[in-house]
Amino acid sequence: MATVVDSPNKEANKSALANKKVTIVFVLGGPGSGKGTQCGYIVQHFGYTHLSAGDLLREEMKSGSENGFVIKDMIKEGKIVPSELTIKLLEQAMLENRNDKFLIDGFPRNEENRAAFEAFTGIEPEFVLFFECSEEEMQKRLLSRNQGREDDNIETIKKRFKVFMESSLPVIEHYEAKGKVRKIDAARPILEVFEAVKACFTRGDIKVNQL
Ligand code: ADP
Ligand code: C5P
Ligand code: MG
Repeated sequence: MATVVDSPNKEANKSALANKKVTIVFVLGGPGSGKGTQCGYIVQHFGYTHLSAGDLLREEMKSGSENGFVIKDMIKEGKIVPSELTIKLLEQAMLENRNDKFLIDGFPRNEENRAAFEAFTGIEPEFVLFFECSEEEMQKRLLSRNQGREDDNIETIKKRFKVFMESSLPVIEHYEAKGKVRKIDAARPILEVFEAVKACFTRGDIKVNQL
C-alpha cells in the first residue's frame, strides 16, 4: 500500500482532499461507548457517510496487505497504529466516495493522529461528538458485543481503556479548548443517546441539513 509520503501531490505532501470540500465530524469516546451504534442512526437521519477507523484497519488487515501483521499485532495489544497508515485509509475512503459529509469514528486517537491528519488534509472538524461513559458500562458492553473481535477480551479491554485515558483524552481537550466538543451522556439507552446526538446536528450554528 502507498504511504502518505507517496501521495500524488508530493511537493506539498498534501492530500487531494484539500481540493474536495468536505465536512467532517469526529466521533470519539472510549471503547464500547456506542460510537458505531450512534453513527448508524446519524447516517440514516443526516445523510453522512460513516467511516470507522477501526473498521478500515480491520479490513486492511484481512485484505492480506503487507501491513496486515502490524495492524493485527497493534489491535490485539490495544495500541494505536501509526498515523500514516490510518490516514491513508481514511483519505482513500473519502476520495472514493461522492458524499461530502463524513463521520469519522474512532479517529483521531492520539495527538499524533490529530496533528498528522490536519497537516496532511488541511481539514478541521466541524465539531467533535464525545460519548462519555463509565468504564464499568463500556466493559459490560464490549464483553457482550459478540462480533468475534480479537480485542474484545478482558485483557485487551484493560489496555484499551488505559490508551484511551492516556492518549485519546488529550485530543478531546485540544478540541474542547477550541469550543468544538459536543459532550453526550452515552450511558443511557440507545435511543435516548440518539435524541441528544440529534440535537447536536440540528443546532443553528452548524451547516448540517436534516434529510
Ligand atoms: P464503539 O463503536 O464505541 O466501540 P459500539 O457502537 O460497537 O461501540 O457498541 C458496543 C456494544 O454496546 C454493541 O454491542 C452495542 O450494541 C452496545 N451498545 C451501544 N450503545 C448502547 C447503549 N446506549 N446502551 C446499551 N448498549 C449499547
Ligand atoms: O475504534 P475501534 O474500537 O474499532 O478500534 C479498534 C482498534 O483499532 C484500536 O484499539 C486500535 O488498536 C486500532 N485503531 C488505531 N487507530 C485508530 C483507530 C483504531 O490504531 N485511529
Ligand atoms: Mg466501533
